[in-house]
Amino acid sequence: MYLGIDLGTSSIKCLLIDDNQKTVATSSHDFTISTPKSGWAEQDPSFWINGLSKCLNVLNKNVDFKKILSISFSGQMHGATCLNQEGKIIRPSILWNDTRSFKECESMMDSNPDIMDITGNLAMPGFTAPKIAWMREHEPEAFKAIDKVLLPKDYLRFYLSNEFFTDMSDASGTYWLNVGERNWSKKLLDLCDLTEDNMPQLCEGTSQTGVVSKKIAETYGFDYACKIIGGAGDNAAGAIGLGLISEGEGSISLGTSGVIFTPTSKFKKNYHDATHSFCHCIPNTWHLMTVMLSCTSNINWFTETFKIKLEDLFTHFEKKFQSKLDNCPFYLPYLTGERTPINDPFIRGSFTNIGLQTKLDDMSYSLIEGIAFGMFDNYLSLEKANQNLDTLYVIGGGSQNDKWLEMIATLIQKKLTITEDSSSMAAFGAARIALIGNNNSNLNEVISKPPIVKTISPNFDKYEILSKRFQLWKKIYETNKPLAPSLS
Ligand code: XUL
Repeated sequence: MYLGIDLGTSSIKCLLIDDNQKTVATSSHDFTISTPKSGWAEQDPSFWINGLSKCLNVLNKNVDFKKILSISFSGQMHGATCLNQEGKIIRPSILWNDTRSFKECESMMDSNPDIMDITGNLAMPGFTAPKIAWMREHEPEAFKAIDKVLLPKDYLRFYLSNEFFTDMSDASGTYWLNVGERNWSKKLLDLCDLTEDNMPQLCEGTSQTGVVSKKIAETYGFDYACKIIGGAGDNAAGAIGLGLISEGEGSISLGTSGVIFTPTSKFKKNYHDATHSFCHCIPNTWHLMTVMLSCTSNINWFTETFKIKLEDLFTHFEKKFQSKLDNCPFYLPYLTGERTPINDPFIRGSFTNIGLQTKLDDMSYSLIEGIAFGMFDNYLSLEKANQNLDTLYVIGGGSQNDKWLEMIATLIQKKLTITEDSSSMAAFGAARIALIGNNNSNLNEVISKPPIVKTISPNFDKYEILSKRFQLWKKIYETNKPLAPSLS
């Protein structure tokens, strides 16, 4: 058996597969984010260890852990997880959706414009390097204590095996990697007063990085030879779950973040639109991706704040979507700022055009439509760098609502494909990576596509009205943009 561990932002999931890649067992544990200030997002890494431990203790009641041959990871990316020389956490991890380090990004790019070509990306506050530059300025004592900077999933690897490694896909999101050459960039590290000694070792996603430590083997019942395999950032792991390694295919992930991902056989870039250009988690392959910071987190925020059930929210949305959409408000889904395409740390969410006639069902509609517009805006950026996106799969929690998918399909004018296990694709991808790494498998034999459950087609009757509303929605952002910095 092979264990995939998916460290997400709102939960950790463990998924075991057998040699035929059939899921044997799963378990998960939820946790929260702390938001000490607007635009900040942090998590205590002890939540991750505690969650992992709970999941493993549930699984090992019914599964013989001695049969697990290897373990790999999928992880929320970018989080600055800083360890001192004793291997202790220095401060809570600053997460991927934290936008506090926008000034550090500007000064990095202003003083060294060539860094965008080395990394293939704009310096954006979500990435790890500007977060560390922020610490150097605002928390100098914590900065001085740094011995290693790890990414979230690599802290779990350290817990399980006492080794410091990261894979190329996750390392790409640090802004310290030369993405084309797949090695740490001295120039980028110098900008943060760090060296390679402060970094984990680099590996490909399918390479072995060690075995479980004796203590971990004895605590959970693993065999002492159980291997630890590199793993991937969550979006690359989801792509491996879907079998996406060739150009022309892509995925739309509707999770806490909204991501459109497509593999590339070469290092391609379109950083002007804040499109991300990263290594894939398998050798000699790269990918492009666009990232919307708040996707389903808008839904969680709305249902918790207005005390409305998720089913009711979608019932309102579906009913309204059938109507003429007269007088529906507009929603900007930017709860913590946005990356693609606007790279704006100041903008926040808003409803526009609320009147006396506005009801909860209108707002529910606008909320979901606003997220769909954000994804469409992402799609338009990705299309500039890669026009040959023929097949698009949808994964993540949002892949379960057909009407929402119909709206996205209508906007992008393409069919969307949903496979089995679409909500836990990153965990499945991690388990697949564990299998590939353990068996040195031929990728083409292992990376098949999961069975298709359904295909969602565009609704041509709605295209005109949605296109018109999308153009207005874009103008609302343009109007809010100059005001946003003075509001926060
Ligand atoms: C990718 C990104 C997010 C996180 C969410 O650049 O920031 O998708 O990985 O888990």
